[in-house]
Amino acid sequence: MTLPTITATRYVLPLREGGSLPGVVEGNDLGTYVIKFHGAGQGPKALVAEIIVGELFRRLGLRVPELKLIQLDPAIGKSEPDFEIQELLIRSAGLNLAVDFLPGSFGYDGSAGNPGDQAMARILWLDAFVANVDRSWRNTNLLVWHKNLWLIDHGAALYFHHSWMPAEKFATLPYDASDHVFSIATPDVPGVDAELAAAITPELLTEVIGLVPNEWLEDGDRERYLDYLTARLDKRSAWLPGGAR
Ligand SMILES: Nc1ncnc2c1ncn2[C@@H]1O[C@H](COP(=O)(O)OP(=O)(O)O)[C@@H](O)[C@H]1O
Ligand SMILES: [Mg+2]
Repeated sequence: MTLPTITATRYVLPLREGGSLPGVVEGNDLGTYVIKFHGAGQGPKALVAEIIVGELFRRLGLRVPELKLIQLDPAIGKSEPDFEIQELLIRSAGLNLAVDFLPGSFGYDGSAGNPGDQAMARILWLDAFVANVDRSWRNTNLLVWHKNLWLIDHGAALYFHHSWMPAEKFATLPYDASDHVFSIATPDVPGVDAELAAAITPELLTEVIGLVPNEWLEDGDRERYLDYLTARLDKRSAWLPGGAR
């Protein structure tokens, strides 16, 4: 199985809220997408994390905007006056990540209430599992769209791949939940542990890792992602907020 591949036909505008300067583009399928560039600060590994984490969360029933691969010809941005954006487009020629654009969505800030204990517990459990440090109050990376909560921006998760620290170290790496947007609501994280741990099978992990294009991987990386995530799943008592039951 692979993600669909489209081609960017028009650069619409930069999204300046994010640190990685993603942009809005139109695709040759007439869709509108947020494009996340392989030439941005963290490089293609951020896009690898977006795919593995986003597609895992989606398969576990969370809402994640559809992901596609997108071919970029930097010439589509030639009328963009900003030098920084021109540079980013040129560095990002070729394959990038397209995230379905949710028009009229707004950033979650808690003002319209929370999504319920079960949903908050599952999101916190999963963010701890993939070591996602980007879900704080300052920057929730949650969008509200048609009254539902959508999860975006998983590029900072799986950060072990920047150094490939030993898998045993990542397996037991604690997660600082105090900064997480839902920690203050103290959802029952141990209460969702059995369900989520059972659902994350080696087959499911292999499937989502298999969606990453070869262009962004070194030899052996797929096996490494599987090993690291499997090891962490086995050592839940070390990192689970609230402890495993
Ligand atoms: N699919 C989307 N639909 C609508 N807005 C989006 C979408 N993805 C991102 N955004 C907006 O763009 C901002 C930056 O995107 P994000 O993926 O968080 O990038 P960064 O890695 O730079 O933080 C988000 O905070 C949000 O406001
Ligand atoms: Mg962000």
